[in-house]
Amino acid sequence: MKVFVVGAAGRVGGLLARSLQDRGDAVSGLVRRAEQGETLRAAGIEPRFGDLTTLSPAGLAELVGDADAIVFTAGAGGAGREATTAIDGDGARTAVEAARIAGVDRFVLVSVFPEAWRERDLGPDFDHYIAVKKDADVTLTRSGLDWIILRPAALLDEPGRGTVALGPAQIHETVTRQDVADTLAALLHEPRISRQILELTGGDTPILDAVRANIRRS
Ligand SMILES: NC(=O)c1ccc[n+]([C@@H]2O[C@H](COP(=O)([O-])OP(=O)(O)OC[C@H]3O[C@@H](n4cnc5c(N)ncnc54)[C@H](OP(=O)(O)O)[C@@H]3O)[C@@H](O)[C@H]2O)c1
Repeated sequence: MKVFVVGAAGRVGGLLARSLQDRGDAVSGLVRRAEQGETLRAAGIEPRFGDLTTLSPAGLAELVGDADAIVFTAGAGGAGREATTAIDGDGARTAVEAARIAGVDRFVLVSVFPEAWRERDLGPDFDHYIAVKKDADVTLTRSGLDWIILRPAALLDEPGRGTVALGPAQIHETVTRQDVADTLAALLHEPRISRQILELTGGDTPILDAVRANIRRS
C-alpha cells in the first residue's frame, strides 16, 4: 500500500511511517522544512514539501500523487488559536478536498475525544482546539470518502504496550504515541472498517484483536 502522511515529521506521523514500512508499505508525506526532508529520506520516507496553511487542495493533491490512502496527523500543537484553525481545521479540510481531487478514497483522520480533559478547565484556546477538531470530523464524515476518524486519548511518549482499548466510545485516559501509530497502521490494513469513528485509549486488548473487534457485522 502507498500511504501519504500529512504530518510525517511529527511524533505520531514518524512512528506511523515506521510501522507502515515494517508492513512493507511505501510511505510519503508532507513536510515543511528541508532538514526534516533529509531525515525522512534517510528513513526511507519520501518527503513532499509544502505548508498546509498555503497549499491549495489542488496543490496538495499533486503532492499526494498516486497514494492509496491518506492519514492526516498534523496539528498546531498548542501554537495558538489562529494556528489551530489554520492547521487542524482548514488544513484538514484542504486534505479532504485534495483526497477527492487526487482520487484517493481511503482517508484516516487523527482527531481527539470531544470531552478530553473537560474537567481540567484548560481555557478558551483548548476549547477552541476541541471545537475545531470536531468541525474537521464533521467535514470528513460528509465527504463521501472511505474514511476513519481515530480519536486518541492524551498522548504519551513511552514505549508502546501493544495493547489498547478501541471502540466507538471509550473513557478518556492516556495512550502511547507508538500504540496510536500501530493502531492507525492496522486500521489502514482493515478495509472492513470504514466510515467509523473510533476512540482509542490504553487498554488490555492486543491491537490487531482490538481492530478486528470493530469490524461491523452486516
Ligand atoms: N497531544 C495529545 O495529547 C493529543 C491527543 C489527541 C489527539 N492529538 C492529535 O494527534 C495528532 C498528532 O499529534 P503529535 O503529537 O504527533 O503532533 P506533532 O508531533 O506536533 O506533529 C504535528 C505535525 O504537524 C505538522 N504541521 C504543523 N503545521 C503544519 C503546516 N502548516 N503544514 C504542514 N505540516 C504541519 C508538524 O510539522 P513541523 O514538524 O514542521 O512543525 C508536525 O510534523 C494531532 O493532530 C493532535 O491534534 C493529540
